[in-house]
Amino acid sequence: MSKTSLRVLHFSDIHVGALVRHMHWKRWFSKRGIGAINLLRGRAKYFDEVEEKMAAMARFKEAQQIDLVINTGDYTALGLEHELRLARELVDPMMYPPQRYVTVPGNHDIYVHEGNSHYRFSEQFCSVLQNDLPEYCAGGQYPLVRLVGDDVAVIALNSAKPNPWPWRSDGHIPSCQLASFEKLLEDERIKRRFLFVITHYAPRLANGKPDKKLHGLHNADDFLKACSPIENGAILFGHIHRTYRIDVPETKIPLYCAGSATMEGFEGAWVYECSEEELVAKRVYWNGEAYSFEPLCIVKKD
Ligand SMILES: [Fe+2]
Ligand SMILES: [Fe+2]
Repeated sequence: MSKTSLRVLHFSDIHVGALVRHMHWKRWFSKRGIGAINLLRGRAKYFDEVEEKMAAMARFKEAQQIDLVINTGDYTALGLEHELRLARELVDPMMYPPQRYVTVPGNHDIYVHEGNSHYRFSEQFCSVLQNDLPEYCAGGQYPLVRLVGDDVAVIALNSAKPNPWPWRSDGHIPSCQLASFEKLLEDERIKRRFLFVITHYAPRLANGKPDKKLHGLHNADDFLKACSPIENGAILFGHIHRTYRIDVPETKIPLYCAGSATMEGFEGAWVYECSEEELVAKRVYWNGEAYSFEPLCIVKKD
């Protein structure tokens, strides 16, 4: 394969399964307890083969000569420490060099508010949370900027927050982060680059509409408005377990949802080829044994 452009792999929502038996009894009375019951009731079976699929994803990354990996969160099911540790181990082969791996937490990675939930994510993923323009940090480690060569940058915004109530899985980008993001877009070190703006929550669904109030990004409109000055770039996210691309009137740049890389029957991801000011996006499928650009074709017998 000839190498003429930057190749970017974007995957998300791997949801490493909880080993529920490791849960302390007190957690059965929290949102985690309800989450664990849901897992036991069947959701977990959709994520049975996460380990095999992540090994395959690492092989795909090597075979496709990927230069940069972006993960938009939901590494875990319940945000437990051992889940985060296992997730980190599974994606570790894709985290070298660490400057070429950019990520944000998902709502499942900071499942309930325990004071240290954000810290626990940062602790496991500290090697890939380097910020090239830390002066723009606002209220934590974000916006996190990674400059890639001379022509590309990734800007990561954290939209995940703990949701103490089991019926809620909504998020927002704190206004201080958005304000800092708007200033950042005027920085000369950013201005002429192709920008990947990444966050966990979907600003729009595949049909172009906002997600439901209890599942979506509260300030999606503000976020899209903040992105409106960007001439060349893309907005990348996960949370919705379906892989799609849409254009919306609020921005000049396209929106890409990675979907879930590991959810059985719905596996998906993207590879972006970035050259000059053009982005070519290729949908990635799971064919039962490996990730590929070809969808699995099931031939039905009469
Ligand atoms: Fe998810
Ligand atoms: Fe999510």
